[in-house]
Amino acid sequence: MNNFYFYIPTKVYFGKNQVEKLPGCIREFGNRVLLVYGKDSIKKNGIYNDVVSQLKKSDIFFIELSGVDPNPRISTVREGARVCKENNIQIVLGVGGGSVIDCSKAIAAASKYDGDPWDIWAKKAEPKKALPVGAVITLAATASEMNKNSVISNPDTEEKKGFGHDMLIPKFAIMDPAYTVTVPKRPTAAGIADIMSHVFEYYFIEVPGATLQDEFCEGVLRTVIKYGKQAIDEPANYEARANLLWAGSMALNGVSSRGKLFDGLLHSLEHALSALYDISHGEGLALIIPYWMDAALSEKTMHRFARYARNIWNIQEPDDMTAAKRGIEQTSKFYKQLGLPQKLSDLGIPFDRFEDIAAKSMRGDTTGNLIVFTKADVVKFLERMK
Ligand code: NZQ
Ligand code: ZN
Repeated sequence: MNNFYFYIPTKVYFGKNQVEKLPGCIREFGNRVLLVYGKDSIKKNGIYNDVVSQLKKSDIFFIELSGVDPNPRISTVREGARVCKENNIQIVLGVGGGSVIDCSKAIAAASKYDGDPWDIWAKKAEPKKALPVGAVITLAATASEMNKNSVISNPDTEEKKGFGHDMLIPKFAIMDPAYTVTVPKRPTAAGIADIMSHVFEYYFIEVPGATLQDEFCEGVLRTVIKYGKQAIDEPANYEARANLLWAGSMALNGVSSRGKLFDGLLHSLEHALSALYDISHGEGLALIIPYWMDAALSEKTMHRFARYARNIWNIQEPDDMTAAKRGIEQTSKFYKQLGLPQKLSDLGIPFDRFEDIAAKSMRGDTTGNLIVFTKADVVKFLERMK
């Protein structure tokens, strides 16, 4: 097992009616709140009323910033930082999916930074301070409620970039699975693919001795597949939503991954697609994953892919290469069943900017770790997904 650093300061309140804990959580940091949310989902499903009534009954002052887009924009971050600075805000509270929580973290950092916030995501500046962040998560996918990442898009430069810092890890997370029952089929399915991708980014690179991490990864995958399908078929099933929500956190809060190696190709390529075409993160990943698995399968990796096929999809096949191929087919079939895209054209992505997509997906001269792609390799890979 590799050496690692592990830090999660998030107080998690998981289960029904946990929103009642909100005032106590907030008061540890002050009583002036920026309440950040997306479009209208939290107003339609009652979460907005729950949150606001808790704030009002505890005399907590709050200002609202609504309209955060899926793939949150740097313009929203600028606006949020301005509001925080002008109103002496003490804590940023995000109520929504990963986009809202990521945007809340970005606002928290930007409100303590004097330059243009995009400097932080463009890696031109490292913020030294940030406001504390709290999360009421409403969608199982990113684990943003328990991690340090904030992914922000800049349509002017056609970039989508991540920044992570310990000070941005939410101080608390209210995780009520009942808040996720209204997530429609499409974002539920996208969330399932995203959670699985977070595991895949670590699982397929074998690290000798990282036994517990591999077991965690497989547990998360089996849970997401079982309960994800159930949540799609029976959206109001509380146990299905609860397992999906907690599995999402475990996939990217470090529990399943510390001590392993990160691949990164799935996310660097998906972020490039989202940057150019504003697609759903999870849908982009669902498209890429089976092609990536195919590309990564070799004599060297077949043992791990066969383990995946047997332990996740229960494929009883003694030959490693055959089992591995069947595991990949099963993955693709599962995404198809969930209504997830199979080709670039399913996402409305034209075929005229493969060079740009490839350039944006590079981390230096290459991208990936399980398989290492140059720009030319990414272009060829995109050709396969037409
Ligand atoms: O805008 P609202 O009304 O909030 O509607 C949202 C949005 O349309 C809706 N929704 C959320 N909760 C709902 C609901 N609808 C009904 N009932 C509810 N309870 O779902 C739609 C998608 O929401 P979004 O927050 O965009 O989804 P997700 O959680 O998948 O977040 C995606 C963003 O997170 C980034 C992605 O790149 C993308 O920008 N990521 C963040 C990561 C992190 N912080 O660690 C890691 C990920 O790999 C990812 O990159
Ligand atoms: Zn992701």
